[in-house]
Amino acid sequence: MDFLDLARARRSVRKYSDRPVPRDAIERCLRAVRLAPSACNAQPWRFVVVDDPERRRQLARAAFGPLAGFNHFARQAPVLVTVVMERASFASAAGSLLSGKRFSLIDIGIAAAHFCLQAAELGLGTCMLGWFNQRKVKRFLSVPAALKAPLMISLGWPVPDTETGPSSRKTIERVRGYGGY
Ligand SMILES: Cc1cc2nc3c(=O)[nH]c(=O)nc-3n(C[C@H](O)[C@H](O)[C@H](O)COP(=O)(O)O)c2cc1C
Repeated sequence: MDFLDLARARRSVRKYSDRPVPRDAIERCLRAVRLAPSACNAQPWRFVVVDDPERRRQLARAAFGPLAGFNHFARQAPVLVTVVMERASFASAAGSLLSGKRFSLIDIGIAAAHFCLQAAELGLGTCMLGWFNQRKVKRFLSVPAALKAPLMISLGWPVPDTETGPSSRKTIERVRGYGGY
């Protein structure tokens, strides 16, 4: 698929069918993650996949409680992926400190985009999820206490959603600047 068409095809999907997602499709998305760029090539991520139905139900219950009510749709997704931010390499951590930028956070965002774009190319739907109970999710997945898990991704076969149209975008004039701000 032409890249711009793929970028257009990827939409946050919030309605999924029960059809299971084959492991080889998930693996393909993870292979795309592996190729993502990162500061100092630190690759500070681990994508924890839960596709076993019972375990996924338990994870969803832990993640999307009353405070994340608007993410209840994610309970229906056949796969939940939790993005764990690994300890950055010394070079990346030093660079972050000196520049005042959280390179690792940028890195996992790019890796997550690779995941979602590869999923879209396979006809799968995803939604990045920033709002969930991180403490409970970490405990459920046995993520080491020192690490953060800032993002989850729901994954599944999309069901046509007649209630919500495509999200709007700023005009190109508002997001570009040639030669200056
Ligand atoms: C870091 C991040 C966190 C997000 N968190 C949520 C979330 O908690 N719940 C949700 O429904 N969508 C979430 N989204 C999806 C955005 O709402 C969505 O990408 C945006 O509205 C644009 O729509 P589109 O993805 O369909 O193009 C998140 C997206 C990103 C990048």
